[in-house]
Amino acid sequence: MRLAPTKKGSTDPNADAAHAADLTHGARHVAIIMDGNGRWAKKKHLPRALGHKKGVEAVRNIVRVAGEMGIEALTLYAFSSENWSRPADEITDLMGLLRQYIQSDIDEFDENGIRLKVIGNYKALDKDIVQLIDNALERTASNDRMTLAIALNYGAQDEMLRAVQAIATAVKKGDVEPEQINISHMSGALDTAELPPLDLLIRTSGELRLSNFLLWQAAYSELYFTDVLWPDFDKRELQRALQSFGARERRFGGR
Ligand code: IPE
Ligand code: IPE
Ligand code: MG
Repeated sequence: MRLAPTKKGSTDPNADAAHAADLTHGARHVAIIMDGNGRWAKKKHLPRALGHKKGVEAVRNIVRVAGEMGIEALTLYAFSSENWSRPADEITDLMGLLRQYIQSDIDEFDENGIRLKVIGNYKALDKDIVQLIDNALERTASNDRMTLAIALNYGAQDEMLRAVQAIATAVKKGDVEPEQINISHMSGALDTAELPPLDLLIRTSGELRLSNFLLWQAAYSELYFTDVLWPDFDKRELQRALQSFGARERRFGGR
């Protein structure tokens, strides 16, 4: 499925930008903790695997919708560094769905100007998945309508540790003095380095925690929690979250 015409097809770029700002309420970067697939399945007396399958459909839909709305970056928490503690068969199901998703949706990413990005230590996943991801990253690298960042084997503490290690290496090489290290060095060493600042962080399924997601980036993000389970999260729910975001007064510590 193709999205509505891109910015490039428009005659009045200003009108397009204004339209996008209307729909997104000014949110450039939205991240979602996609939680509740298991409970969705349980409620319907279905196996958990079917909950994850429905979850992928919700991903597909939200990626389209976010692209159409004009969101610049959408970051989705798909598999955490702590999710390895789940039973082996569930991990196999999740990895199978990931394979299928990349293979089946890569053409659509390209058609719709979606640049894929992966955050987290994805190189530790199965070799064939790493290969699929690397191909998809390369193929979509010059797309510029929206960046879809998928968090795979991601943990914010692990991400920050890797950033600190990179900075410590730079110090050791004499490229930077310890007392010169600043917030930009740290932001720039994180997996999210080239993404816009995180405006809105959404979590579905009623849990009120961040579960090791984007801990640095969320410093001044607006938080939105909904009881809706991830497989039921649709365009209307995203609009609700964005409306709530639009009604917030962001002060960043000022007055
Ligand atoms: C979110 O759904 C998907 C992943 C964490 C991979 P869950 O599988 O966590 O669903 P619940 O929380 O058990 O309902
Ligand atoms: C967070 O959900 C991770 C993802 C959505 C990928 P979890 O279901 O793993 O989080 P907890 O265990 O409830 O904190
Ligand atoms: Mg969960």
